[in-house]
Amino acid sequence: MPNSPRMLEGYRVLDFSQFVAGPTCTRLLAEMGAEVIKVELAPHGDRVRADGLKSQAPELKDSNYSTYYVQHNHSKLSFAIDLKQPRAKELVMAMLPSIDVVVENFAPHVIDRLGFSYEAIRKVNPKIIMCSISMAGQTGPLSYKAGYDFIGQAYAGVTDGIGQVDGPPAMTTMAIGDVSTGVASAMAIGFALLHRERTGEGQYLDASLLDTYFHMHEKSVPVVSLRGDKFRPTRSGSLHPDGGPTGAFHYRDGQYVFLTVPPHQWPQLVRAMGMPELASDPRFRSARGRRDNKEQLRDVIEKWLSGFATRDDALAALDKERVPCAPVLSVNDSIKHPHLNERKTVRWVNDPILGRIAIPGMPVKFSAWPDRVDLHASRLGQDNERVLRELLKMDHNQISKLYEEGILVRDPTLPA
Ligand SMILES: CC(C)(COP(=O)(O)OP(=O)(O)OC[C@H]1O[C@@H](n2cnc3c(N)ncnc32)[C@H](O)[C@@H]1OP(=O)(O)O)[C@@H](O)C(=O)NCCC(=O)NCCS
Repeated sequence: MPNSPRMLEGYRVLDFSQFVAGPTCTRLLAEMGAEVIKVELAPHGDRVRADGLKSQAPELKDSNYSTYYVQHNHSKLSFAIDLKQPRAKELVMAMLPSIDVVVENFAPHVIDRLGFSYEAIRKVNPKIIMCSISMAGQTGPLSYKAGYDFIGQAYAGVTDGIGQVDGPPAMTTMAIGDVSTGVASAMAIGFALLHRERTGEGQYLDASLLDTYFHMHEKSVPVVSLRGDKFRPTRSGSLHPDGGPTGAFHYRDGQYVFLTVPPHQWPQLVRAMGMPELASDPRFRSARGRRDNKEQLRDVIEKWLSGFATRDDALAALDKERVPCAPVLSVNDSIKHPHLNERKTVRWVNDPILGRIAIPGMPVKFSAWPDRVDLHASRLGQDNERVLRELLKMDHNQISKLYEEGILVRDPTLPA
């Protein structure tokens, strides 16, 4: 099986994306075996190249190859070009007949100004699947706005729910919506390719951070729709508003245990705690009571937790009764966790420039293909020549001329 073609082998993706959302989508396609040509805009390419850690080697001080770039763009080719020049547009247009999928995540209409609207693309290749990712979508009153993860999150009614009860809205410290929008877009492209295989039909996909975030509301939307302002989800700090008990419970010394205990698992928690009296306590015996008295229940649980010699002992007592529980780990802890390493959720890669680095593995494991660790990322424009030779059959002299005219750019630290 490992020698059979990867699922998307033979498909070619033209990737105009940058930052996180678009690159996550095309990185997943690349992991599945597609050839992804990342079109990077002159002069510096994807703006995340400037972020993350870089090599300390003096000879690489002018390179913008970074951990941030590698994580989101490994397994892609880098084709760096000044797309504002008419000749550059012609070159990319000429590549379109060899392309299956186009992905971009500029603000709406930027790609049209670059000359690659879906209308323009489908005239050249009607079988192409094009996916645009934006903050709020290509249509509707908000479509004029550019934005990042947190902007979509705020419009979606998600940010309002995060934080302490009496405090301001808080923020997540990672781009959950960007990554999820990339995943949703990759899913959509996979299905659109399946549809194309059956019908020969290409299509346009309009993905957005806001749509992805709104799609994450697992429960409140229909309730608000029925009850209007009589029901208003509120910030709830570290305890779930529904009670549970669900939330982060302090063990000691800044260490927390997370519990999720829906009503049918409450008896398990009572058994794990060895406190049968909780089951008949009028404050806690009903789910509504546990919700209304959640702070008091938290005090009981935290007192119980603090009686253990170690947090792991407390977790073992909870595990014994199959109570859904976890230690609240830092990234520093989880990167070392044996489980995450055994499953290559933490994926260790020997990067020729940055050394041995960890990046997240694929979120789903395929039985037919092992997770790849022999990953390679390109420096800016590293694959210019390869792309032009393979797709447009250009020769060395023609390509050199494109450099002289400033149409192609590349990392200055690459060997000539
Ligand atoms: C991310 C975002 C907010 C960045 O905004 P921005 O830096 O102003 O970039 P825009 O996409 O609006 O493009 C603005 C101009 O910069 C140019 N540009 C964009 N990226 C460039 C780059 N890396 N190098 C050079 N020029 C670039 C565009 O061609 C455009 O030029 P024009 O106005 O002359 O046509 C915006 O691209 C966006 O809303 N994207 C969709 C949502 C999204 O994916 N957000 C990021 C999630 S990780």
